[in-house]
Amino acid sequence: MQVSQPARPSDPIYRRDDHLSQACKDLVSSLPSEEGWVATSFCLYQGFWFPTWLFNGVLACQNHFQAQPSDILLVTNPKSGTTWLKAILFALLNRAKYSDSDSKQRHPLLTQNPHDLVPFLEVKLYLQQENPDLTTFESPRLFATHLPYSSLPGSVRDSRCKLVYLCRNPKDMFISLWHYVNKRRAEEKGQIPLPKCLDKFCRGLSPYGPYWDHVMGYHKASLEMPEQVLFLMYEELKEDPRVHVSRLADFLGCPFSDEELRDGTVEGIMRMCSFDNLSSLEVNKSGKLWTGQENQWFFRRGKVGDWVNYLSAEMADKIDQVMEEKLRDSGLNFQYK
Ligand code: A3P
Repeated sequence: MQVSQPARPSDPIYRRDDHLSQACKDLVSSLPSEEGWVATSFCLYQGFWFPTWLFNGVLACQNHFQAQPSDILLVTNPKSGTTWLKAILFALLNRAKYSDSDSKQRHPLLTQNPHDLVPFLEVKLYLQQENPDLTTFESPRLFATHLPYSSLPGSVRDSRCKLVYLCRNPKDMFISLWHYVNKRRAEEKGQIPLPKCLDKFCRGLSPYGPYWDHVMGYHKASLEMPEQVLFLMYEELKEDPRVHVSRLADFLGCPFSDEELRDGTVEGIMRMCSFDNLSSLEVNKSGKLWTGQENQWFFRRGKVGDWVNYLSAEMADKIDQVMEEKLRDSGLNFQYK
């Protein structure tokens, strides 16, 4: 197992792999590995690069998660807008409970971070416990995961539960990831140089990467099973939230009524979940997740096209070329260059 830096007991869990079970250690030591972006290495498992510290969660989730047909799973590549869509899904599904002015004041999104309201499977529930009790979750249960389509627990495909995939243009997603990773690195290690990170990203070496295989897995599934998998784009959601949140509601079987469309329910959800609103809430300015990550790390700029402030023309070309080559036959192209 290749670990760039010895872990200290005080390190947060995402900088350590001393919590790995013996079975995970054995597996990890048999897999191809590369230097990671934060502290622990990446291991190539089932065709994708997983950060070593997550292996307990990944394997436990694959072995134990029992999906139910009514479950809803939000899936993303990290830094594609997961936090935003977690908030939207939560607000959408619970809109009847918080529709009048009194209940609106008590909306859980005002006092809890979206990651606490919509937990990750392999990054939280199955990392904290090998086989957590999920019976306390009300139906429809709402979970999130970054697992690639081909690595999902078998019960997800068998149950035909709903999957909502959010994809973001690779240049913005990459820059967002670079910023985020730097916040998670130990101070003495300093920032990971952008060109080094870019080189790794373009070789597929990113958390849950290759990026293109992750995206293509879900895109293909959404074409083959449109009732089970909805493929959304971050940029389209930004540009036309009313259309895409309505699509989402239709897909989940809870379409907006004519009255809701007239009375501004959709706009209310988007206002509640907007970057400006969520990022200004006390819980998201000062709170922390169970892993020790600060909630504010999930709210940086929330813009489309912010990559221009960081990537040279040559660096941007490098990403475009890799994407063109890898996604050529997929029918996917990113208009948001
Ligand atoms: P930037 O770093 O480009 O600002 P994830 O939630 O998957 O970790 O993704 C984080 C990215 O989504 C960050 O992008 C973050 O700012 C952005 N984001 C968070 N909340 C958002 C919101 N309400 N609306 C739009 N973007 C949001």
